[in-house]
Amino acid sequence: MPFPIDSVRSSYPALADGFAYLDGAAGTQTPQPVIDAVSAAYRAGIGNVGGAFPASDRSGAIVAACRAAVADLVGGHPDGVVLGPNMTTLTYRLARAIAGPGDEVVVSRLDHDANVRPWTQIGATVRWAEVDPVTGELPVEQYADLIGERTRLVAVTAASNILGTRPDVAAIAELAHRAGALVYVDGVHATPHGPVDMRALGADFYATSAYKWSGPHIGAVVADPALLETLRPDKLASSPDTVPERFETGTAAFADLAGVTAAVDHLAAMVPGTGTGTRRERLLASMSAAEEHELALFAVLIEGLETMAHVTVYGKPARRTATAYFNVAGHTPRQVAEHLAGLGVNVWNGHNYAWELTGALGIRDSGGAVRAGLVHYNDRSDVDRLLEGVARLG
Ligand SMILES: Cc1ncc(COP(=O)(O)O)c(C=O)c1O
Repeated sequence: MPFPIDSVRSSYPALADGFAYLDGAAGTQTPQPVIDAVSAAYRAGIGNVGGAFPASDRSGAIVAACRAAVADLVGGHPDGVVLGPNMTTLTYRLARAIAGPGDEVVVSRLDHDANVRPWTQIGATVRWAEVDPVTGELPVEQYADLIGERTRLVAVTAASNILGTRPDVAAIAELAHRAGALVYVDGVHATPHGPVDMRALGADFYATSAYKWSGPHIGAVVADPALLETLRPDKLASSPDTVPERFETGTAAFADLAGVTAAVDHLAAMVPGTGTGTRRERLLASMSAAEEHELALFAVLIEGLETMAHVTVYGKPARRTATAYFNVAGHTPRQVAEHLAGLGVNVWNGHNYAWELTGALGIRDSGGAVRAGLVHYNDRSDVDRLLEGVARLG
């Protein structure tokens, strides 16, 4: 069945402004059911959790539903879903609980800085996995040398947020596990682009951010609850010591958590005919269809860019998300983005926090490049408008 792009697009009110939203990798637009769920939570009345009155119970139910939804999205256990304001904050928090001086950690130059700096700033010995700057691949073989008996953790991305590269995380995780190391997978860029099975990836921790997949600005890290039981993060004496609550600081954004659940339900319901089965099964079917839709459009987008003589496209990874990173001769990335904005096309410019990778590509200090990414709500006209806009700069 073809991906129902028109009905999917119609559920996102923001798309009615006529812009081609190719900036989804920096944050997606929000569908009506998510907007409704957030406002319904506030309308119904919410209180802090643990109180003796119904509004408090409603917040408790929102949190429980959110954990179940995120677990379904990534193939994890609801009791292992740690919620927080964003992936960066949660990763800093977990890094300090997982490793420290005397440990070794392996990080990669493919990763967004949010899965690098939290690990390099805890006093552990740091070992670097290198990227092939031409292909944009992260060769697995190097991990055999990088991982040793002192390795506590390997941090690796499930997909690069600029090149789209999907490294062989399962193979890297196997090497890590053989050495008794843990694996922390940054799924922030990967999650919106296809079905996720954190167990198949070999992820002991899987980080994701709802605002990249049509939800509110909320992050989550998912792990086996039994693994979380072994970790003792810094926490207030007065806050719960249970798992996963002991990893969560302060009062949660309850209404936004209701929006996260609605976003997962929205993703699960995108494709008609996937209406039976568990939510997890519907998510797998729906996200597979979304991935197919994105990659078909991306084939047009990347071929169009690669055939323009005035355009340099970075990376050519074998397995990737629908994310293109490119420069245009004679124009800075910012100028290209401004030109495209004038034509109603939203793209991002800069290093996009892929600090090590843009360094390896040799373009960090010159302003990085332009990123144009597709998500499930993009259509052929978005791609055509991008290509026409870039062609005009030739
Ligand atoms: C791959 C990747 N990892 C991590 C992050 C950081 O996520 P957050 O904004 O939730 O801290 C981003 C944000 O752009 C990202 O793209």
